[in-house]
Amino acid sequence: MREELASTNDEARRLAENGAADGLVVLAERQTSGRGRRGASWYAAAGESLAFSIIVRPTEPQSLWPRLALAAGLAVAEAVESDIPGVGIKWPNDIWIGGRKVAGILVEAGGDFAIVGIGINVNTREFPPEVADIATSLHLAAGRPLESADVLTKILEHFMWRRSQIGAGFDEVLDGVRLRCVLTGQAVTLMTASGPRRGTMEGLGPGGELLLRTPNGLERIIQADEVRLDDFNARA
Ligand code: BTN
Repeated sequence: MREELASTNDEARRLAENGAADGLVVLAERQTSGRGRRGASWYAAAGESLAFSIIVRPTEPQSLWPRLALAAGLAVAEAVESDIPGVGIKWPNDIWIGGRKVAGILVEAGGDFAIVGIGINVNTREFPPEVADIATSLHLAAGRPLESADVLTKILEHFMWRRSQIGAGFDEVLDGVRLRCVLTGQAVTLMTASGPRRGTMEGLGPGGELLLRTPNGLERIIQADEVRLDDFNARA
């Protein structure tokens, strides 16, 4: 545990490059340059949220490592749903409660390791205006404060199990994500490298890719920079 770091993902990468072991967790009270997906910054109030990164040295082929993102999202959802009902996953791995984001995950690969960074709003009760209507916390959802250490322990327990399923057993991860996916059946717009794709999300394919029904047929989306629910009010 460190009081302040620029980014736990950067520190975990530095440690991994210097030989740190699989499973090592870097936790910071405060990040000065916390990073989100797509180069966005990640703000989290010190003392009210968890920001940590796990070093993973998968035994599975590198082509399967992107599955860690789904495994981590599922682990976070499973870890908090004993306290809070209705936890959803917005593909690929944002965690939503009541249509608002409560946690985000940033997976980055190194040469022979991956870093799984997780940020989760635990006891935040007020958010900055920019995110006030799209963010929530476990405290707000549960109606009572939660112990950050307990949340962390549960996430790590679930993650250690789910990460072992990115090869054999990935169907179990997929089933867990499918069950909680807030996009299924919804009209969505995906910003992909080859432009925007609009359609209805039909589900997840066997590799965790998003199946999008479009006027041209069924498209398989492996990666998207941004995923938007077209009917904002349909968020669940
Ligand atoms: C996202 O939803 O955009 C992903 C957010 C990931 C934030 C976490 S906080 C811990 C770790 N360190 C970082 O700099 N980012 C991740």
